[in-house]
Amino acid sequence: DKDGYPHFMLKEINEQSRVIRDSLVGRLRNESVDLSEELKWSNEEIRKWNRIHIVACGTSYYAALIAERLFENVTEWDIRVDVASEYRYRELNSGPETLAIFVSQSGETADTLAAERKAKISGACCLAVTNVPNSTLAREVDHVLLLKAGPEVGVAATKTFTGQLCVLYLLALYLGRVSGTLPDSKQKRLVQELRVLPFKVDTILEDHLLIRGLAEKYANARNFLFLGRGNSFPVALEGALKLKEISYIHAEAYAAGEMKHGPIALLDHDVPVVVLIPRDHLYDKVLSNIQEARARSAPIIAVATSGDQHIIPNAEDILWIPPSEPELNPFLEVIPLQLFAYYVARYKGCDIDQPRNLAKSVTVE
Ligand code: M6R
Repeated sequence: DKDGYPHFMLKEINEQSRVIRDSLVGRLRNESVDLSEELKWSNEEIRKWNRIHIVACGTSYYAALIAERLFENVTEWDIRVDVASEYRYRELNSGPETLAIFVSQSGETADTLAAERKAKISGACCLAVTNVPNSTLAREVDHVLLLKAGPEVGVAATKTFTGQLCVLYLLALYLGRVSGTLPDSKQKRLVQELRVLPFKVDTILEDHLLIRGLAEKYANARNFLFLGRGNSFPVALEGALKLKEISYIHAEAYAAGEMKHGPIALLDHDVPVVVLIPRDHLYDKVLSNIQEARARSAPIIAVATSGDQHIIPNAEDILWIPPSEPELNPFLEVIPLQLFAYYVARYKGCDIDQPRNLAKSVTVE
């Protein structure tokens, strides 16, 4: 049931504040995260680990890359994030001292399942983050954390990306707390921010007509570049993936600092550059990347924090997100990128919910 929306994708984009709220239910106690009902880990077991592997494909992999940065921030374990199709064939240090997390919306992705089986044989503690409780992945692992996203019908993942981010963030905060590496004050600040996140998501969704106008303005471009730094870099990867998979426009994403190592050669007035430039500690660095792109006549579409006057003369067009704790910016940045991809594809008359050559879950290698 599309609930009055023309496509499942648009309906699912609009469900994201509900997904965040549902993800928090039963997982917060006062101002901290408590997952002890779902994860029966003893302190002894947690102390045994010295590394965390996070493994996934596609959009789930990008959610994992964002989470990696939070894990680095709030825990002291070595974190490795990999695509499942690589992880399954690598010679890795894995064993009982490894917590291996497999992120899969469907729980049926062949590469992710193979990676999980490999980790399990090594003796790693295997945890699934999935939307489907009775999926193969959920049945095979030692522990499961479920998304509360509800069924996702559109082939392009949207609300499950947000759900994955929520669950991975909760996990990072929980492990940071129980392992004693995350100060209470920081936990409290991030939990308070998670609680207000749904309202901020809704304010972005209200801007959909503006985003639609912008999408129509740029829909005839043949190539796009997406740039971001820090936790915005994986959001750039996700924004480019959304655009290419449903509109069939070539879109590449780079860590903004890498632009000068090659992609800058592609830039001219025909290549719009979508730049994620939230107000965080990397703001000035990204601004100088914008100036490099502008010097090559590339039109800049900035995703920036409301109230940032400085960005106005530096971009052709701006998509605004509300101010937030920097760790949570990815939740907000991804929404305008999903809507942008959606409206470009709609303008071009593409089959949005069933893009060519793609399946909702990839059950073959
Ligand atoms: O079900 P999974 O999360 O394991 O699926 C992984 C990818 O196949 C999936 O995210 C794919 O990239 C989507 N089409 C993205 O929109």
